[in-house]
Amino acid sequence: MPPLNSSALPSPVPGDLPPLLDLIGRTPLLPLRFAAEGVTLFAKAEFLNPSGSIKDRLALHLLTDARRRGLLRPDSVVLECTSGNTGIALAMVGAALGVRVKILMSDTASIERRHLMRHFGAELQLFHTDRGYATGIDLAERMALADSRYFLTRQFANPLNAEDHVAHTGAEILQQMDGRVDAFVSGYGTGGTLNGVSRALRAACPAVRIVAMEPAEAAMLSGEMPCCHSIEGVAGGYLPPLLHGVKVDWPEKVSSADALTMTRRLAREFGLLVGTSSGANIVAALRTAARLPAGARIVTILCDRAERYYSTRLFAESSPSSPA
Ligand SMILES: Cc1ncc(COP(=O)(O)O)c(C=O)c1O
Repeated sequence: MPPLNSSALPSPVPGDLPPLLDLIGRTPLLPLRFAAEGVTLFAKAEFLNPSGSIKDRLALHLLTDARRRGLLRPDSVVLECTSGNTGIALAMVGAALGVRVKILMSDTASIERRHLMRHFGAELQLFHTDRGYATGIDLAERMALADSRYFLTRQFANPLNAEDHVAHTGAEILQQMDGRVDAFVSGYGTGGTLNGVSRALRAACPAVRIVAMEPAEAAMLSGEMPCCHSIEGVAGGYLPPLLHGVKVDWPEKVSSADALTMTRRLAREFGLLVGTSSGANIVAALRTAARLPAGARIVTILCDRAERYYSTRLFAESSPSSPA
């Protein structure tokens, strides 16, 4: 089955913007045949966005909205707390638009993410925390109170985050799936993807099942305490406001070990250069397939590219210094 392309979809980019930004969104939907499991899944290839993740959509929407509403002054600095992908995306879109960006990031995020943000010219401030994203969010608010040049994009609470996924990611999926989706499976960081895509899908397919992938080690929707896991970008020890009110049919817990194994399998069996949360989403989607009737049309997200994980456990077994 060929990829379900979306080139006929409307561009999310207003007309006067740099052409690079027109590469954001309208990502293909890849049918992936898992022969051993007898299941075909549909995976939205968000790693193909220009900075390499689903967060390019959010960064484009937040910065163009702020510009349009005249909220960015010549001396403004966009300030955001992020586990990495939003920072890379804001840095890329900021560079293209000539907007300064400063990122607050936990010191546990991979070194490649720091390199990429700095490469785009963004300023980076690391913080140490045992409280997940809450520490960085508080810090950003305090910094903005003390210095009026900071413009907060507030990805964790900003309704634009979810609205963009209703208008674009969700609308694209519906068009690519000919309006028929039985289940949507996604992890959550800010909850923007789950919130927005589920709203778009439920409006068109009321019986759709919405499944929230969460790390088994930090299964907060399942009522458990957060702990360390290796699925970067999701479940940062915090239930984000954008997840409140989202009707999740069931959470699907995926261990870091299963996520890493599947991410390597995606590379070796499918040639997909994607990060660990993509592997986790696929594990959760295959389990969802096992709960639904054969032939169910299940959509999930390939969130980001693998190259930002070279220094993490994902590449530990293929490191040049590891034994052959
Ligand atoms: C790799 C990765 N996967 C999944 C997500 C979840 O996306 P959302 O913030 O829309 O919940 C993120 C968010 O940062 C991410 O970086």
